Amino acid sequence: MKKYGFIGMGNMAQALASGFVQKYGLEKECLAAFAPNQEKLKRNADRIGFQPMTSAAELVQWADVVIMACKPYQIEGVLQEIGGFLPGKTLVSVAAGWDHAKYREYLDGSVGIQFVMPNTPAMVGEGVLLFESTHSLDPAVRAEIMELFASVGVVEELPSHLMGIGGAVTGCGPAFVDLMIEAYGDAAVKYGIQRDTAYRLISQMILGSAKLQKETGLHPGVLKDQVCSPAGTTIRGCGALEENGFRNACIKSIDAIMDRKEKKS
Ligand SMILES: NC(=O)c1ccc[n+]([C@@H]2O[C@H](COP(=O)([O-])OP(=O)(O)OC[C@H]3O[C@@H](n4cnc5c(N)ncnc54)[C@H](OP(=O)(O)O)[C@@H]3O)[C@@H](O)[C@H]2O)c1
Repeated sequence: MKKYGFIGMGNMAQALASGFVQKYGLEKECLAAFAPNQEKLKRNADRIGFQPMTSAAELVQWADVVIMACKPYQIEGVLQEIGGFLPGKTLVSVAAGWDHAKYREYLDGSVGIQFVMPNTPAMVGEGVLLFESTHSLDPAVRAEIMELFASVGVVEELPSHLMGIGGAVTGCGPAFVDLMIEAYGDAAVKYGIQRDTAYRLISQMILGSAKLQKETGLHPGVLKDQVCSPAGTTIRGCGALEENGFRNACIKSIDAIMDRKEKKS
C-alpha cells in the first residue's frame, strides 16, 4: 500500500486523515503528517492514528503521496523547503486556489499533481471531493487516490475553469446551510420548541430533503410542488421566502464569493 503524508494537520487534514483511517482502513504504517506545532501534532497522531514527522522534508522523503493541507499562502514557502525531494512523487493538494496550472509554475513534469477541493462534511463521511480533471497522475495511481478520498464522501470531477465555482458552492455552502439551520431553529424556539430539539428536527429535515432529492433525482421544484397543496400553508411559506428574496439571496451569496475570487486573480 502507498504511503500518504500530510503537510499541515489542521481542520481539513484531520477530517480527511480520520476518514482514511476509520473508513478506508489506512494503517498507521502508511500515514504520516508534519505540522509546525509538534505538541499538537502528537496529540492528533495519537487520536487519529498516524506517524508524526519533525519536518516537511522528512515527511516528503518518506511518503509516496504528499497531501498539501496547509494554508494557501504558506505553500510557496513549503515548496521552497521540499521542492528538491518531490521529483518522482505524487502531490495531492487541497489548498484553495492551488490548481494544477499554479503548481506547474513551481514544479516540473517529474511531479504528479492533483488538485482536490474537499469540504467539512468529510468529517462525517458526507463530504464532496472535487477532483480537477487536469492532472498529471498515472491513471492507476489516480484511481487509488480517488478511492481513498471516496471514503470520506462523494468524488466528482470538474474541469479546471469550474473548480472555483464548484469549490464556492460545496466548500462555502455548508456555512450557508448552517445559517439556515440556525434561522429555522430561532423560528422553532420562537414558537415554543426547545433549542436542542429544534436543531435536531431541522438538521434531520434538511438531511432527509437532500437525500430525497438525491435518491429520486427529481427536480427540486417538483419535490417542492409535492409539499405545496392548493391554498395550503406551505405555499404561503414559499411566497414569504420569495417576497424576502430567498433564491436571489442564495445566488448573491455565490456572486459575493466569485467577485472576490475574480478580484484576487
Ligand atoms: N476548512 C475547509 O472547509 C476547507 C475546505 C476546502 C479546502 N480547504 C483547504 O485546506 C487547507 C487547510 O485548511 P484548514 O481549514 O485545515 O486550516 P487550519 O486548520 O488552519 O490548518 C492549517 C495547518 O497547516 C499547518 N501549518 C502552518 N504552517 C505550516 C508550514 N509552514 N508547513 C506545514 N504546515 C503548516 C498548521 O500547523 P500548526 O497548527 O502546527 O501551526 C495546521 O496544521 C487550506 O489550504 C484550505 O484552503 C479547507
